Amino acid sequence: MDNLEQLVAQATADFDAATEPARLEEAKARYLGKDGSITVRLKGLGKLPPEEKKAAGAAINVAKQAVESALAARREALKNAQLAAQLASESLDITLPGRGQSRGALHPVTRSLERIEQLFRSIGFEVADGPEIEGDWHNFTALNTPEKHPARSMHDTFYLFDEQGKVQEDVLLRTHTSPVQIRYMQAHVARYQHLEHMPEIRVIAPGRVYRVDSDATHSPMFHQVEGLWVGEHVSFADLKGVVADFLRRFFESDDLKVRFRPSFFPFTEPSAEIDVAFMSGALEGRWLEIAGCGMVHPNVLRFGGIDPEKYTGFAFGMGPDRLTMLRYSIPDLRLFFEGDLRFLAQFQ
Ligand code: DAH
Repeated sequence: MDNLEQLVAQATADFDAATEPARLEEAKARYLGKDGSITVRLKGLGKLPPEEKKAAGAAINVAKQAVESALAARREALKNAQLAAQLASESLDITLPGRGQSRGALHPVTRSLERIEQLFRSIGFEVADGPEIEGDWHNFTALNTPEKHPARSMHDTFYLFDEQGKVQEDVLLRTHTSPVQIRYMQAHVARYQHLEHMPEIRVIAPGRVYRVDSDATHSPMFHQVEGLWVGEHVSFADLKGVVADFLRRFFESDDLKVRFRPSFFPFTEPSAEIDVAFMSGALEGRWLEIAGCGMVHPNVLRFGGIDPEKYTGFAFGMGPDRLTMLRYSIPDLRLFFEGDLRFLAQFQ
């Protein structure tokens, strides 16, 4: 009996000494395994005289149960310890400060475009857009640009390739927003031609345009805002008034000089370039070109489906990138398109 009590005590001590499950299973094998001391004793029962068998068997079974429950207790303890360790190692310190979420912001050119749209909407203009992949007809022909005009040369225009890798001469990335004039006039006429008095066209078309060009003041992709006002008595005076008023509101300055300099565009006659000069600040007194404009050429009205004997109109095409550079004193156009956060974050 003593012997069995010692055995139980030893087993319990062995189990308690095991600090990980594998060691515990090894200790278990020494007592309860195939050759374990409890198992060997049970097997030895057969050799005892019958009158001793019953008591001996009962005693061994009591010891076996004691060993098994010591084992179960230790298993449970190890499992709990492992769980506690895991919880400790995986715990989150919810008192640490967060990483923070920095605030996004609109791109400075997007801001200008929104501002331009808002200002023109306030005087009754609609905002339209057109495809950036254009046909040669809309981009050039319908804008009264003759076949051999330099603007059509491969040098300025990005043409698209067909599936065989051949240049498609009639599909290109629009080089200006002016083709939207044609698209808008045609849609407008289609919608209102049944009326005796067609409503006026008053529209701006902001968007991206593309040219094979790149330096501090030119990017192969840049923005333009086209403007078009067509009606029965639209004059150059209206053009001057609308543009000058827009510029003063855009730059929030009455101290701004606006100049119309004679120029040439195939789609307007007469044509002018628009310059501004600020009366204060770093650029004080310098004339800066910001747009082209003019009275819409009769051929262009005709291509748009409008009778040039009855209607006149003015158009302009301005550079919102340029306007943004002036508004925020940004020296290099490329900063707009490089995606450098050190630059962009200043507009939050
Ligand atoms: N499309 C011209 C360009 O990209 C800009 C322009 C000039 C647009 C005169 C106009 C205009 O509508 O009347 O250089």
